[in-house]
Amino acid sequence: MSSTESAPAILPSAAVPASADVVEELLAWAVPGKPAEFPYSRVLGHLRSVGKHFLATELLDLLSEVRDRLPTSEGQDGPSFLRRFLDVVLDKHDDRYDYPSYTALCLLHRPAAADWREALRSRDEVLLFLLADLIRFEQRALSDTPGAPHDMPPSPELVAKRARLAVRAMEPAALRALPAGVVDAAAIAAVPGRTPGGPLAAEILRTATPEQALMLTASVQPVYVLHDEYLFLRTLQAFETTFTFMSSALATAVRRLDGNRPAEAAELVGAVAEVLKESLPLFSLLATMRPEAFRIFREFTEGASAIQSAGYKTFESLCSTPSLARLASSAYTSVPRVRERVMNGQATVQGTWHALIAAHGPDAADDAALRAAADRLESVHQRWKQTHYRLAVRMIGERSGTGYTQGVPYLAAVLDNRLFPAPDRHGALVG
Ligand code: HEM
Repeated sequence: MSSTESAPAILPSAAVPASADVVEELLAWAVPGKPAEFPYSRVLGHLRSVGKHFLATELLDLLSEVRDRLPTSEGQDGPSFLRRFLDVVLDKHDDRYDYPSYTALCLLHRPAAADWREALRSRDEVLLFLLADLIRFEQRALSDTPGAPHDMPPSPELVAKRARLAVRAMEPAALRALPAGVVDAAAIAAVPGRTPGGPLAAEILRTATPEQALMLTASVQPVYVLHDEYLFLRTLQAFETTFTFMSSALATAVRRLDGNRPAEAAELVGAVAEVLKESLPLFSLLATMRPEAFRIFREFTEGASAIQSAGYKTFESLCSTPSLARLASSAYTSVPRVRERVMNGQATVQGTWHALIAAHGPDAADDAALRAAADRLESVHQRWKQTHYRLAVRMIGERSGTGYTQGVPYLAAVLDNRLFPAPDRHGALVG
């Protein structure tokens, strides 16, 4: 268990609370009849200065007691924020550590939107917050008061490059979600990626409510102390936010097909393809992570892998039912709830579309629109997988995956899979 191992050799700066200070504050906070704000920033300040993998047993035990004493009744949106926060802090201590807890997805979660355009707006807002916060963190590394984690700080050139690449992923969302004039639509259309990152980030973060600001700080809980892990976490979260939208839009597309509204389904599948395409620059951003930093901190992320991403597998399995071989492989045994939904006969875009054609005969225009949208999604997903594969080769080479696969050979094998396979290809899909 993490806490029995020795702590990394990091000298905490004066402003960073030591474990004993945090314990003292927690004890003071827990005094009955003395309501006060939970000391989130002190807990996080300490956690980020040593890494979640290295929190002391005394502190972990106390945090666990705090969680045990929280009221058990849940609010409308499930467990309280503090309980979810403590679940993330205590994942290794509880022996529950995995990809969703590493990426603190439960802290970023928002209630499902009623309408797909609202869901897109929600995705855009969260994505902009995550990447604006990343730009701020990167730029602070060049100041006299860098934020933690701060070992292996980046060069000014690397910070500038990351800001440019983050902006590439932000601009399409910024054009949709920010008030007119914050970004220059004509300039972006002419040359994407030139919006100045610092001012854009400041403008976005200025609008954060106290709850959103807390959500942003609380959702970075690195396992170690290296600067680049912040980039890794924010990139994964930005993708997850995108997968959540894709899944909800595809579920709506299935309902539209079921209700004999194929034109609307085509629009939705097209929107999903577009958003996945817009997210591809996130890979370029993550490619700036230094492989030597990644190799060090991934020692402490063993057991957390995006193969456990329920969002990714949900959107994939809403396109068409995965082959039995893939369902039996770690691709789906790593996401048991998604697997169960599929095994229980989850309806898919491809299945509902074929049923619609069988029942009503194809409407040539609708069929062509849906086919074109599905082809766009297929091709951008193939690009996504190829880029992911190349990134993995660069970052881990021949090492095995943290999700217990062989690593790169697993990713090479899944390149052949298709979201919308031709019927005769289906049996040939690999796990
Ligand atoms: C340093 C960058 C990355 C490396 C080295 C990497 C490596 C890997 C490896 C080796 C696997 C196989 C499963 C395992 O054993 O862990 C995997 C699966 C996966 N990764 Fe990544 N990955 C990286 C970044 C990302 C990012 C940013 C995402 C976006 C969320 C992502 C999403 C996925 C998904 C969805 C799978 C499952 C694919 C499937 O089952 O078909 N990865 N990754």
